[in-house]
Amino acid sequence: MDAKTKLCCLIGNPVEHSISPLIHNTLAKEMGINMVYTAFRVDNDKVDDAIKGAAALGINGLNVTVPHKCTVIDSLAEIDPLARKIGAVNTLVKVENGFKGYNTDIIGLYRELVECDIDIEGKEVIILGAGGASKAITYLCADKGATKIWLLNRTIDNAVAIANEVNSYFGQVVQPLTLDKYTDIPKGKYPIIQTTSVGLYPNVDNAPVENDDFYELAAVGVDIIFNPACTKFMKKCLEHGAKAYNGLKMLLYQGVAAYELWNNTTVPKELTDKVLALMEKEMASR
Ligand code: ATR
Repeated sequence: MDAKTKLCCLIGNPVEHSISPLIHNTLAKEMGINMVYTAFRVDNDKVDDAIKGAAALGINGLNVTVPHKCTVIDSLAEIDPLARKIGAVNTLVKVENGFKGYNTDIIGLYRELVECDIDIEGKEVIILGAGGASKAITYLCADKGATKIWLLNRTIDNAVAIANEVNSYFGQVVQPLTLDKYTDIPKGKYPIIQTTSVGLYPNVDNAPVENDDFYELAAVGVDIIFNPACTKFMKKCLEHGAKAYNGLKMLLYQGVAAYELWNNTTVPKELTDKVLALMEKEMASR
């Protein structure tokens, strides 16, 4: 580090267990870029101060995590149109009068889907959950040409709200249902994207839908959870002959997309593979 070192950082609350410093500091070291990445815990009522301070210090870029992904929008100079529709931002890039906000979570998920050979265009998809992550993923699937999105959630009103919003842009593509109404979905094989917090460590013995016949609908299951590495949802998909992936690649690729925006570069595939292996090792040691 010297007086020319570029600083990038994560803000959120909490941030102490974040794996993002491992991603960015490895990329910077391997690519020979004079950049460091650290994390700051920021209280809810200090987000605007933090962004103003970061701009004043000339901080190169920020990641934003829970619970600030929506509130930070009010402090931005500019926002990417898709991030505005989604209503959540996780990456800030320095611009002349402050920061421009992007949603690279969605870029990360899309890269994971492509790499796992999961085709959305012209397909029907099942999404479990109707929180912030689900909203972004529902937009992504509609934007990538899904013909129908079965949006299942415990609280129907939350699924209806996302469906109404996304359908206002893309037509009647999203069908909201309660979790137990998966029986309304025609028999067939679908990609299923799991976005609820059910199954997240330490509650590893839970799945958002426990009934085995639900998993007969799975061609492939993608859980955005990465701790544990194999959730109960993923296990049930595997037991029913489907493939299953966790959210670690999504996390990696959202970071890679942010890094590429900050440094105006492209990270080679061999390097993303190397970082993924380090992330897997780190998660296994926790
Ligand atoms: P995120 O921003 O990570 O998506 P969130 O907005 O808090 O998180 O959303 C959490 C999701 O997990 C919601 O879909 C929530 O369902 P509700 O809308 O009914 O609250 C879902 N969820 C959380 N706990 C759940 C549980 N025990 N069973 C089923 N769904 C649950």
